[in-house]
Amino acid sequence: MNILVTGGAGFIGSHLVDALIERGHTVRILDSLVEQVHGPTPPEHLNQQAEFIQGDVNDAEIVAKALDKVEVVYHQAAEVGVGQSMYEIVRYVKANDLGTAVLLEEMIKRPQQFKKLIVASSMSIYGEGAYRCEFCDKSIFPFLRPSEQLAAHDWDFKCDECGSELRTIGTSEEKPLYPTSVYAVSKQDQEQFCLAVGRAYKIPTVALRYFNVYGTRQALSNPYTGVCAIFSSRLLNDQAPTIFEDGEQSRDFVNVKDIVQANLLAMETSGGDYQAFNIGTGRATSIKQISELLAAGLGKDIAPVIVGKYREGDIRHCVADISKAKEMLGYTPSVTLEDGLAELLKWLGEQDAEDKVEAATAELTSRALVK
Ligand code: UD1
Repeated sequence: MNILVTGGAGFIGSHLVDALIERGHTVRILDSLVEQVHGPTPPEHLNQQAEFIQGDVNDAEIVAKALDKVEVVYHQAAEVGVGQSMYEIVRYVKANDLGTAVLLEEMIKRPQQFKKLIVASSMSIYGEGAYRCEFCDKSIFPFLRPSEQLAAHDWDFKCDECGSELRTIGTSEEKPLYPTSVYAVSKQDQEQFCLAVGRAYKIPTVALRYFNVYGTRQALSNPYTGVCAIFSSRLLNDQAPTIFEDGEQSRDFVNVKDIVQANLLAMETSGGDYQAFNIGTGRATSIKQISELLAAGLGKDIAPVIVGKYREGDIRHCVADISKAKEMLGYTPSVTLEDGLAELLKWLGEQDAEDKVEAATAELTSRALVK
């Protein structure tokens, strides 16, 4: 199969490219090599067996060239900093919204050419995860915690009716979407643009809502990415990770190999066409646990600092309900957090990470995005 991977030089895209090439596909990468992510030179992991086009998804001429003879498109290109998206709004909307629009406009000039479009969506579009009140026997899908509550350092959700603490439950695809950052809105747009246009032009389209992805090749020097990369970069520089809230907030950490697995399944089966799927593990891990696991694995006796601050728009808990992906795509997560972190730590041992986290946190604080 002839396959285009936009963002194919990135963390997730590059792993996907390797897997596709291993399976004998012909792969072309379109990637602009964003400097914040890659630094000044192309990444070493860029697969030499793939054709590489350096260019922007906003450039219709380059996109048209990149689509030549392509049968399957994986759209992974995006700007990914949640906090940064709240002030570099034009940059995020341009790359994520307009970039997707340009790609789709070029695709619909020759819709019969494509067997599949698979777009990278995100758990961020849900906002808060799903909860249950056992006493009232009901599911609750809260919006963000009110700022007065956060200012009082009261982190957990309580039932509006009976006041008891809520229990986190798996978030399914049916949960109402409450995206709370420009990044999250742009991810929702990417997903919906692709599904709507795919449906109209009969290009089988699948959206994969990635949960908190971790793994080798995550951009350690990009302070706006996920917590695993941020903590790792701090620890490698003998600095304590800083934990917001009380560290008991949790996420569903999914290894990049399972993200690749889901992408391959989405291409190989038609069972998921025109649908969106959660791609996580179904297991929640607290941020404190993550920092402890990373420090122990790196052999660093560095305790995290719980700063008691919070990030604007942060959610408390979100863990995936993956039953839909299991049923319709045949997806089963295969990498445990223990094994995945062990592999990440081995790779980290070989990396040099420039720690830009403090500067980035100062920037977010100055913009009242960390309080
Ligand atoms: C967000 C996006 C997600 C995206 C990810 C990485 C939402 C709901 N989700 O996830 O789609 O893939 O960013 O870009 O917007 N934390 C610390 N100290 C730090 C950094 C983070 O304590 O130095 C905490 C945060 O407060 C948060 C948790 O770690 O509670 C996870 O943060 P992060 O990795 O940025 O991911 P999300 O916000 O869950």
